[in-house]
Amino acid sequence: MRVAFIGDIVGRPGREMLKKYLPKIRKEYEIDFVIANYENASHGFGLTPKNANEIVAYGLDCLTGGNHSWDKKEIETLFDTHEILRPHNYPDDVSGTGCKIYDVAGEKLAVLNLMGHYSMPLTDNAFRKAKSTVETLHVEGIKNIFVDFHAEATSEKRAMMMLLQGQVAGIIGTHTHVSTDDFQIANGTAYLTDMGLTGCRDNVIGMDEKVPLKQFMTGLKGHFDVPKNCKKILQMAIMDFSDGKCSGAFKLKQFDDGELLKTDAWIEKD
Ligand code: FE2
Repeated sequence: MRVAFIGDIVGRPGREMLKKYLPKIRKEYEIDFVIANYENASHGFGLTPKNANEIVAYGLDCLTGGNHSWDKKEIETLFDTHEILRPHNYPDDVSGTGCKIYDVAGEKLAVLNLMGHYSMPLTDNAFRKAKSTVETLHVEGIKNIFVDFHAEATSEKRAMMMLLQGQVAGIIGTHTHVSTDDFQIANGTAYLTDMGLTGCRDNVIGMDEKVPLKQFMTGLKGHFDVPKNCKKILQMAIMDFSDGKCSGAFKLKQFDDGELLKTDAWIEKD
């Protein structure tokens, strides 16, 4: 199966990039299943039902979340009606789930959403939850597992990769909005520390730079805003999974002027 992952969709500019390019890319690269992180899709914070329907229509099969999952309260209703996850390591009595299983190209695919700890809300231990969930999935015979690990610290993401390497087909980080340059396949597991945002690319993590700059210059906090006009990018990982392993992967950077950059993941030799 060919699975694609898009990181944090930030506001209208991110949604516009999906509308313009996702159907074309999905067809051209014969992608079976597309996962994307929704937590910033509605003006940078959370997801409204209207925007959920909008982005799903552009070709998304499963949406993953993070620390902003509940910024729009209507998310509670969407958990029941849409293919929407929230981090699986929120306590069990919190609404929604962070793990769903799909039939894709004749095989099962599990999507697991987890959230890290540094600079994040207090939750159950992401690493213990990852280990126990993956073990349960294996017992159930589900081999193809993709993890969106929503975390701030690169060290946490590397540690999660070391914990799950060889046990899952892919782990990609989200949350920082800044893409890293370490897309690799090791022991059959595709790994990228952070996917990077889909949205505005010429400011501060997809947000107008005025408020962040004021915050850094003065120490005074403000509300971040998605710019109305900006240069945009869509970033996507495309991975081939079979029998629980990733056999090949590459990343696309689609710019809003039409330029497309493709970079292969490197394969770590034993
Ligand atoms: Fe986040």
